[in-house]
Amino acid sequence: MSLVIRPCHDGGLTALRALARDPSLAREFEPLQTDAGFDDLMGDPHLPRELRWIAWLDGTPAGFCFCFLAPTHVGSFAMARLGVVEPFRRRGVATALLAATCAAIEPIRERHGLRELSVSAWEANPAAEAFATRHGFRHARDFWRMERPRGPVGTPVWPAGVSLRIFDGSEPALLDFNDAYNRAFAEHYHFMRTTPEETRAVVVQSHFRADGVALAYRDAACVGFCRNARFGEAGEVAVIGTVPEARAIGLGRALLRWGVAWLQDDDASPIYLMVDGENEGALRLYRSEGFQVARTRHHWSRPVTGT
Ligand SMILES: CC(C)(COP(=O)(O)OP(=O)(O)OC[C@H]1O[C@@H](n2cnc3c(N)ncnc32)[C@H](O)[C@@H]1OP(=O)(O)O)[C@@H](O)C(=O)NCCC(=O)NCCS
Repeated sequence: MSLVIRPCHDGGLTALRALARDPSLAREFEPLQTDAGFDDLMGDPHLPRELRWIAWLDGTPAGFCFCFLAPTHVGSFAMARLGVVEPFRRRGVATALLAATCAAIEPIRERHGLRELSVSAWEANPAAEAFATRHGFRHARDFWRMERPRGPVGTPVWPAGVSLRIFDGSEPALLDFNDAYNRAFAEHYHFMRTTPEETRAVVVQSHFRADGVALAYRDAACVGFCRNARFGEAGEVAVIGTVPEARAIGLGRALLRWGVAWLQDDDASPIYLMVDGENEGALRLYRSEGFQVARTRHHWSRPVTGT
């Protein structure tokens, strides 16, 4: 048996796309099932090209890994996404891909203040769980995909002094959005800090819809936002947040209603969002607006300490 791990440069993306669409991996890699979703994910500013690999088993593509590197509160964390097609499992392919990932992040560990490596999978996935445990990862967090059936949605009630502006693509609006996002999520688990340049890269992606972004202003300050995204038939309330000084005034609920109404008007189905299973406030809000947990995503984590 010959097992070779090769970097996946742009020329290798066709092989990666084909692997990700194998029926044995399609559920785990849902965003890669459409060409637009695939291109967006591969173009994600937090996914360095040098952290992508394809595993070849006896000359046939058998699996892949791509690894996000995201600056967070202090330093950064890495999130490896591994997939091995069914016939090639239990032959050490994912183990070799993980080893390639670890070898590649070691030389950049200090520069990025890298502290943690994560893997994740949808429940139920005994293979992923066993693989994570075998490699020293511990369960760290669950995220929920919540869905809302189409139906009547409440009218947004904007708190006093708050007005809504639809994202106009201008530089000041982009900077407001980037800044409000960083402030709103600063305390969150696996917060991904973004620079204006990274936000600029997102607004040119296929799933991005400028008219699907609402920015809430109080006086001259952007204090909240809701960004919707379309992935094929489905529609996601992709990012929603309010800055600390604009919480508990009903702004989150108003933004959520705006987002759901926008997606319904755009004929999205289903409408969903992802939420940290320990974010009690957000969970209460989403449940009260008709969202229910549809799937659970487990995250496992292991410290990156250097060799
Ligand atoms: C999880 C996955 C990546 C493992 O790939 P793989 O190439 O089969 O993994 P390896 O052969 O390197 O397995 C290494 C160890 O993990 C554990 N393991 C992997 N799959 C397992 C399974 N189905 N049952 C029990 N243990 C398992 C074992 O300890 C194994 O060592 P062993 O075969 O010597 O007992 C693969 O099943 C997969 O692609 N699943 C769908 C995508 C996915 O879940 N991705 C998230 C990964 S965290």
